[in-house]
Amino acid sequence: MNAGIKGIGRYLPERIVTNHELEQRMDTTDEWIRTRTGIEERRIADDSMNTSDLAYEAAKNAIDNAGIAPEEIDLILVATVTPDQPFPTVSCILQDRLGAKKAAAMDISAACAGFMYGMVTAKQFIESGTYKHILVVGVEKLSKITDWNDRNTAVLFGDGAGAVVMGPVSEGRGILAFELGSDGSGGKHLYQEEYIVMNGREVFKFAVRQMGESAVNVIEKAGLSKSDVDMLIPHQANIRIMEASRQRLELPEEKMSKTVNKYGNTSAASIPISIVEELEAGKIKEDDVIVMVGFGGGLTWGAIAMRWGK
Ligand SMILES: CC(C)(COP(=O)(O)OP(=O)(O)OC[C@H]1O[C@@H](n2cnc3c(N)ncnc32)[C@H](O)[C@@H]1OP(=O)(O)O)[C@@H](O)C(=O)NCCC(=O)NCCS
Repeated sequence: MNAGIKGIGRYLPERIVTNHELEQRMDTTDEWIRTRTGIEERRIADDSMNTSDLAYEAAKNAIDNAGIAPEEIDLILVATVTPDQPFPTVSCILQDRLGAKKAAAMDISAACAGFMYGMVTAKQFIESGTYKHILVVGVEKLSKITDWNDRNTAVLFGDGAGAVVMGPVSEGRGILAFELGSDGSGGKHLYQEEYIVMNGREVFKFAVRQMGESAVNVIEKAGLSKSDVDMLIPHQANIRIMEASRQRLELPEEKMSKTVNKYGNTSAASIPISIVEELEAGKIKEDDVIVMVGFGGGLTWGAIAMRWGK
């Protein structure tokens, strides 16, 4: 039995904060942000919306898209580092609001790689025959932990949510291979005290190396070659990091998803948001091979090779 995606949804807050708006608030320029990161604008949730509210909207969309009832969900996994509070978890709040009466629920904390960890966890329960429908959400309200006086970090992040319903799919489709990893010795380069603290150069070096390596590894594990990849969906942190992994896979520009320009780095939400955007643009089709790869604080990383379709 193969685990795959049966439904998908996203939610982004309405308020757009452009680089030009940030120019008014801190010592930065649109030019610097665009050339160093590829970011033009990001979405920021207002005070009335917490992380669970963003997650709820994305989850509802994914469940509708899957065509199942909330009562059919067996497990809810929410990848986030910005939960409403340490407990109850965002996943438990969702369980109640969605009316997912028989679902177990837990949050996963693996920073920007959290969605990869969530999908791989779901795969184990599905392929063992334990559970049939698992809701996996990647969600962040990073604006809560952003120091708006620190130009090194404030320009990078955004709020948003993406969700998938995973379940058994037909042979040859779904997750073909995965890789997860961590290196706690690099925790000092990206962490939260009150706010996000980051050594940008160190994270950059790690990300360029690890994204490329993990992407290549899952392609090999799946028995595929680089030229089989139809769409690369890298964690949307910085266009220069993403470009490095695209070049490592020798893919043309149109085969890499790019949403960082519109949404900034939404951490665990960036990969599912990007999948929805590519689907809506008609750039992911039945039986396409997609490679997703994420990295983040911890340090953590994860990659998945998947054949699209139910
Ligand atoms: C943060 C990042 C964009 C910085 O880009 P960079 O090209 O490495 O820039 P540098 O670190 O060399 O900094 C260059 C200068 O720009 C300045 N600078 C930093 N942020 C700035 C901003 N928003 N506006 C203007 N100048 C800025 C720095 O202070 C530095 O000035 P200095 O040379 O006088 O000290 C880049 O390192 C990066 O993307 N790192 C990875 C971050 C990431 O992905 N984090 C999330 C992981 S999930």
